[in-house]
Amino acid sequence: MNLLDAIAGRASVRSFSATPLTDAEIELLVKAARHAPVTLGKYGQFHLTVIADRELLGEIGGIYAAELGSDFTYGAPALLIVSADEELPRGQRFATAGSIVQNIQLAALELGLGTVYNWAAGSALAGKGELLARLGVPEGFAPLTGVLAGEPADGRLPAELAARPERTEMGVNFVSKGSGTFDTRSGL
Ligand SMILES: Cc1cc2nc3c(=O)[nH]c(=O)nc-3n(C[C@H](O)[C@H](O)[C@H](O)COP(=O)(O)O)c2cc1C
Repeated sequence: MNLLDAIAGRASVRSFSATPLTDAEIELLVKAARHAPVTLGKYGQFHLTVIADRELLGEIGGIYAAELGSDFTYGAPALLIVSADEELPRGQRFATAGSIVQNIQLAALELGLGTVYNWAAGSALAGKGELLARLGVPEGFAPLTGVLAGEPADGRLPAELAARPERTEMGVNFVSKGSGTFDTRSGL
């Protein structure tokens, strides 16, 4: 898939089939995560936990429901959690988590898998020492966020979603030598 088409065609999927991810799919998502730009190149201070176990995902869904009011796993067959060394400054941790999640989301699209950012993972799992140890999150690392992945429930591949209009509500302005400043919010 053309990368620009993938960027334009990506959309959050919040309803999944139970079909598990294959090992090859998981491997590609992990590879994409490991290619992400990471603050100061400190790859060793980030960690990815791939949960493809429905029982565990059910347990995590229960935690979400109890603490956040709803099961935010959306029935997905896989949840990838990004954790970071707690010693790193907070901003660097979260900014890097975003870049890792984005790589996973775009790689998933290439595989025909749907994804949704799962901020709830960081919120619900933070401080759950025993569970985090069970999940294999290294000591001294804290969960930041996650991404859910799987086949969309309606069988429609995310790539088949019509490329949505560009979100021009996001303001942009250009500054270049000699031309001064102009705002293109209504243009482009
Ligand atoms: C930092 C961040 C956290 C998010 N957390 C959640 C979440 O916990 N649950 C969810 O359903 N969507 C979550 N999203 C997805 C956004 O709601 C979604 O990307 C946005 O509304 C744009 O829609 P689109 O992804 O379909 O283009 C999150 C997105 C970002 C960037």
